[in-house]
Amino acid sequence: MKMAAKDVNSLNGDRHLTINEWEEEAKALMERKAFDYIARGSGEESTLMANRKAFSRYQISHRVLRDVSHIDTSMNLFGSTISSPVLLAPIGVQTIAHPEGELASARAAAAMNVPFVVSTVSSYSMEEIGEQMGDSIRWFQLYYSGNEKVAESMIKRAESSGYTAIVLTVDTPIMGFRESDHRNKYSPVGEGAGSGNYFTDPEFCRLLEKPVMEDKEAALKKQYELFENPAVTWDAIRKIRQYTNLPILLKGIVHPEDASLALEYEVDGLIVSNHGGRQLDHGVATLDVLEKICDVVQGEIPVLFDSGIRRGSDIFKALALGASAALLGRPFIYGLAREGEDGVKKVVSQITTEFETTMALAGAAKIREIDKTYLVWK
Ligand SMILES: Cc1cc2nc3c(=O)[nH]c(=O)nc-3n(C[C@H](O)[C@H](O)[C@H](O)COP(=O)(O)O)c2cc1C
Repeated sequence: MKMAAKDVNSLNGDRHLTINEWEEEAKALMERKAFDYIARGSGEESTLMANRKAFSRYQISHRVLRDVSHIDTSMNLFGSTISSPVLLAPIGVQTIAHPEGELASARAAAAMNVPFVVSTVSSYSMEEIGEQMGDSIRWFQLYYSGNEKVAESMIKRAESSGYTAIVLTVDTPIMGFRESDHRNKYSPVGEGAGSGNYFTDPEFCRLLEKPVMEDKEAALKKQYELFENPAVTWDAIRKIRQYTNLPILLKGIVHPEDASLALEYEVDGLIVSNHGGRQLDHGVATLDVLEKICDVVQGEIPVLFDSGIRRGSDIFKALALGASAALLGRPFIYGLAREGEDGVKKVVSQITTEFETTMALAGAAKIREIDKTYLVWK
């Protein structure tokens, strides 16, 4: 994945696309309702826009006359070395973007040594996805099911199919109100594009009166019932601990007091995220809370970051404010929609190369050199 900064202009072969252009290309290719499902946010999309605006409030003040002939973007995360501080975020229902869905994204992630986080509502099962990845790093994202046995079963399946961390998403006690989906009358999960893990789960199937194939509608209804679990509390972490020794990360933390509670509950990592502006509208931009959360955590556990990353410089800014690594969300799905596995590779390569270029021009040769002193707040 490493590419000399001077090669950046040769990315994507004949035609260089910005992430916004990848998005436009995906829009032109996809069914409108599927594109809206991916690209749009909740409510009046205040959070979606705030995520992007927050990045433009910081500028990078570069340092000079430092040896930047060897830029090292590699880092260690939970005992594994990865090439760049970049992961692919859990995104459900990926077959709405491309028929190969998560299988293609997983292969791309494996080829690029980028950890892949598989969603509870993936189109394919976690086992099928894992098979694409050899020994490459994969984590399982859990929506804590309203049924304890199903939650336990999914965690155990993840452990036995090579997933090395559990990411508990905590910003989705109910679904955000996504107006475009309501207008389009579109629910890919309701249509079965997010059933890969449910329909293959023995505990889930035990809850059904008839096998999935005999009554798919009833199975989807049951999946929906279990998916939204508004009663879930911090106690879930204790329960998950009983089922697995894998590291547990909480995804969807934006409040410093929740970061403090997370430490009390001894979680192993945090992901500062607002679900890319798809949940609470008028919620705070993640970049605006990152520093405060890192101040609470004081380096005790890794703090990862997502929501709004579109450029390598965004990753630099997040790291400068204390993040250990960043997750890419929609951008890799636009790559998937346009070119399948190759598209995901190109998007990841583009953003990581931009990040490397930013490091060189800012005067930071190693990840650990990136800190707040590089940032100026406008
Ligand atoms: C279409 C779509 C589906 C998503 N599905 C999930 C999911 O199943 N689980 C989850 O924790 N987050 C999910 N997310 C949120 C992403 O993991 C991530 O937090 C978000 O995309 C980051 O924002 P960005 O897209 O602006 O980079 C989804 C996001 C999108 C766009």
